[in-house]
Amino acid sequence: MFSGKSDGAGRAVQSKKIVVIGGGYVGLVSAVCLASVGHSVRLVEQDKNKAKTIKSGRVPFFEPGLDDVLKSLDGHDGFKVFDSLDSAMAFGPDVVLLCVGTPSASGGQADLSQVWAAVDQFCSSVRQECVFACKSTVPVGVSSQIELRIASSLVEEEKDFKVGVAFVPEFLSQGCAIRDFLFTDRVVIGASCPKVAEKVRSFHQPIIDAGAQVFLMSTQSAELVKYTANAMLATRISLINQVAELCEKVGGDIEQVSTAVGADSRIGPEFLAAGLGFGGSCLPKDLLALQKMGAEFGLSMSVVKGALEANQAAREGFLEKILEVYPSLVGKKIGLYGLAFKPGTDDLRYSPGLWLAEKLAERGGTVVVYDEHCQGFSAALAGARKEWKGSLEVAKDLAQLLAQDFLVITQKTEELKSLTPEQFLALTDQAVFDGRNCFDQLLMATTGVSYHSVGRGLEAQKSSAKKLKPKSKQNA
Ligand code: UGA
Repeated sequence: MFSGKSDGAGRAVQSKKIVVIGGGYVGLVSAVCLASVGHSVRLVEQDKNKAKTIKSGRVPFFEPGLDDVLKSLDGHDGFKVFDSLDSAMAFGPDVVLLCVGTPSASGGQADLSQVWAAVDQFCSSVRQECVFACKSTVPVGVSSQIELRIASSLVEEEKDFKVGVAFVPEFLSQGCAIRDFLFTDRVVIGASCPKVAEKVRSFHQPIIDAGAQVFLMSTQSAELVKYTANAMLATRISLINQVAELCEKVGGDIEQVSTAVGADSRIGPEFLAAGLGFGGSCLPKDLLALQKMGAEFGLSMSVVKGALEANQAAREGFLEKILEVYPSLVGKKIGLYGLAFKPGTDDLRYSPGLWLAEKLAERGGTVVVYDEHCQGFSAALAGARKEWKGSLEVAKDLAQLLAQDFLVITQKTEELKSLTPEQFLALTDQAVFDGRNCFDQLLMATTGVSYHSVGRGLEAQKSSAKKLKPKSKQNA
């Protein structure tokens, strides 16, 4: 972590005054990280309750390490929280960073209502020259439109100063956002004016000194970097999931395939884990928006479309696997490990675990869930109860989860991997459906567990499935 107001070489960091609009995931992480490297930051969160929570030093969602950084800024002049942009702008910022959400609208395109509302508030409250940098993920061309809207508002309101506009995409991954911000691989700066780009570069100096590469380009190119990076990650996952499906038909082992494929330095090992596919608020939303962008220009974006379809097929295929063994789930007690869309977060958006829980319950199963984050602070649990119309029982601990008829795994965690195959014998049916390939299937089969995983060979799958001798009566 950076300390105080000097960079790694002991030089003083040139502190900038920064207003961050939006206290959600990207905004809060950006604000506290920028304050931690020595900038003076004013965070604006218009939801008064959320603003109050942050002011009191608490993080309204789960992100490892974020509460510690927030606490370290307690009482610090360099970090203050506001619930109105106008009050924060009295600070006279050098930079205003836009970090509001751009969720999917009903047609799949990005909903920009929060962006335009914030731009309009900025136009009425800006009092002096500054840079307006957009971090919210916006479709290509939106940063230019923001630039035009701000410029015409300055003329209309006879404000005699300039506001430069830039697009600075974020590459934060939930669960390791602090590291991704402070020790990012790259800082991408889209700006039409070199002076504006330089101002944006300068407030990233501590991050650049920590090793980030800098890429300067047009706002359009920078907007595309963001979407393309997420589409690339998603496409890798979908490709490996399609090959996993083929492995099951022809007898290959996807774990061996992806390890060897990823050892090619041109490819690399990340984002080649087969399983239930990608969930969360970013990959699915950004791929839909990219597809929409292409469609506006008559482009099919067939690779993006295919990645989305393969992703849906991955979770549906896994559900089918369960239903092949249990054609009816009426009266079945199902333990489900992992409710959030991935480990290390309490975010349930487009979560494969939540989706499966709903589908299993719709077919008459009683689903008992366990998530690392259900215990203690229980944010994931509270969110799930709100979002899901069906009933949702929560296991007190892993032992309770293992006391159900069978187990469904949707997350790979250290906690789960620490279980021994023998522990699964506590399940009434001694059956495990593992959507993230957490265990050695031969070891599971030897122990006598009926173990079903993803893309790991016809013969081994079959021999494992044959061992299924439910203790409880199955409803055919
Ligand atoms: C993603 C990107 O990784 C970030 O770089 C980006 O900044 C962020 O979106 C964003 O646009 O804000 P995130 O949504 O937090 O980050 O999650 P990922 O770690 O990318 O995982 C996405 C999903 O893919 C998860 O459901 C995960 O389980 C799944 N996944 C990941 C796989 O199924 N296989 C893999 O090999 C890797």
